[in-house]
Amino acid sequence: MKTVFSGIQPSGKLTLGNYIGAMKNFVKLQDEYHCNFVVVDLHAITVSQDPAALYEQSKDVAALYLAAGIDPKKANVFLQSHVPQHAELGWMLTTLTAMGELERMTQFKDKSAGKESVGAGLFVYPSLMAADILLYNADLVPVGDDQKQHMELTRDLAQRFNRRYGEFFTIPEIYTPEVGARIMSLDDASKKMSKSNPNPGSYISLLDTPKDIRKKISRATTDSDSTVRFDPANKPEISNLMSIYSECSGLSLQEIEKQYEGQMYGAFKKELAEVVVSVIEPMQERFREIRESDELMRILNESAERAREIAAANLTEVKKRMGFVV
Ligand code: TYM
Repeated sequence: MKTVFSGIQPSGKLTLGNYIGAMKNFVKLQDEYHCNFVVVDLHAITVSQDPAALYEQSKDVAALYLAAGIDPKKANVFLQSHVPQHAELGWMLTTLTAMGELERMTQFKDKSAGKESVGAGLFVYPSLMAADILLYNADLVPVGDDQKQHMELTRDLAQRFNRRYGEFFTIPEIYTPEVGARIMSLDDASKKMSKSNPNPGSYISLLDTPKDIRKKISRATTDSDSTVRFDPANKPEISNLMSIYSECSGLSLQEIEKQYEGQMYGAFKKELAEVVVSVIEPMQERFREIRESDELMRILNESAERAREIAAANLTEVKKRMGFVV
């Protein structure tokens, strides 16, 4: 059976973008692949985190994975820091990574822009991400569009290692949704929807109340035309809302266009809000149950134990090839 690996940072509230771009596909893939869905807490600390908040958010993300429908009997769900081999392989891959490659990463450029002091961890972030994926010889990595460049580097590092030390790592493929690979901000369709945006009206959090969701969608920016038509170049705002509609309802973009022919944006937005609430509300109910139960830590510990076994075996192989005395 082929292997899947993906992760989400516990660095704030998860958004509808995280759900559509990544988590929704996690659930889809768990029946066919050997899956690892990880709370990447070591990545979260590449920017400053309040320890108490990091603790809570790490458990929140794990509980959201399960609430979204990931079945711990089918997939491993664990915390990255519970498997020390991630950091160890991360260091080894850092030594194979060129500074120039890291300097070219747009996420690094965005996150470091205008800062007086930038942490070295933020710079080497992509090497640790490569380690996450290669440690399990993952075949497939379900992520949103913004991770494409990191995935290219991961593939380059795998190939570089294989050339230098003999074939070992699988070259992973990226897996992005067709329509929702890049969900944009509700207030500015030129920016991606992001949990780090200081304006909460720009994103829908998976833990927003239905009332907030309705309010945010009704206030979402749209153009002055009034046709519900998918045209990202000329109508980026409505196209973004249509992508959300499609991903949350299962209807195709064409079906949505047809359904709202001759109708105003107001009617479309109202029904969009209900479609989004119908996905998020049941998830929140499950989230509250799981988050409070002792089950959560039991699942995380058992998954981490299974992951450590695979990680340790693969890391030993890597070390042997690199010339470490094992
Ligand atoms: P993170 O935590 O920023 O985001 C988690 C996932 O959500 C996707 N995503 C989006 N998709 C569509 N539209 C959006 N607006 C949107 N915002 C976020 C991201 O593409 C991602 O799939 N580097 C990763 C975490 C990571 C990882 C890994 C992922 C660390 N190691 C190994 C895969 C494999 C990140 O920052 O994700």
